[in-house]
Amino acid sequence: MTEHLTHVQHPLVQHKLTLMRKTSTSTAVFRQLLREISQLLAYEVTRELPMTTQAIDTPLQPMDAPVLDGKKLALVSILRAGNGLLDGILELIPSARVGFVGLYRDEETLKPVQYYFKVPTELEDRLVIAVDPMLATGNSSVAAIDLLKKAGAKNIRFLCLLAAPEGIARMKEAHPDVPIVTAAVDSHLNDNGYIVPGLGDAGDRMFGTK
Ligand code: URA
Repeated sequence: MTEHLTHVQHPLVQHKLTLMRKTSTSTAVFRQLLREISQLLAYEVTRELPMTTQAIDTPLQPMDAPVLDGKKLALVSILRAGNGLLDGILELIPSARVGFVGLYRDEETLKPVQYYFKVPTELEDRLVIAVDPMLATGNSSVAAIDLLKKAGAKNIRFLCLLAAPEGIARMKEAHPDVPIVTAAVDSHLNDNGYIVPGLGDAGDRMFGTK
């Protein structure tokens, strides 16, 4: 991917996202829509995966047919909301390896603090797709990618549902080598760090918590 930001404007993505934004959308429907959108976004983020060919036999004749090349890619969910994107992508790429990064915000320093980190081996040889539905301030995304790079990852992409201009700028400054794929770029962040107009707290909406 050469672009730092890819805004996926496919009509199905945009329609489903509008349904997700509505306050009236139930938890069950929100989760189902997120699963569906995650697969459409995954289509975009994996567009340039390396390919090779394999000699196969069709019922009519032998052929050299295209197959994915290289090590299995790694999906890394940034807890907890990342899990809502993870499930759908895993359905599409069932052989992907999976990692988790857990960060919380220290209320005094306001900096992200790691509480969980478990990622696949040989990250340096894999395409690593970090997933989190909301790129808001960018603080936790930048910190998660710092950790992935420290663990050896060299080829990272960041997939989200909604991005704020502030988060995009922060990621571009900290990790210009990490392309972002998103379904929407919203207006701004409010004083509480929520994306406006956004969809509220993605974790609460997908898990029914408040
Ligand atoms: N995280 C969310 O879940 N929603 C936002 O609007 C911002 C961060």
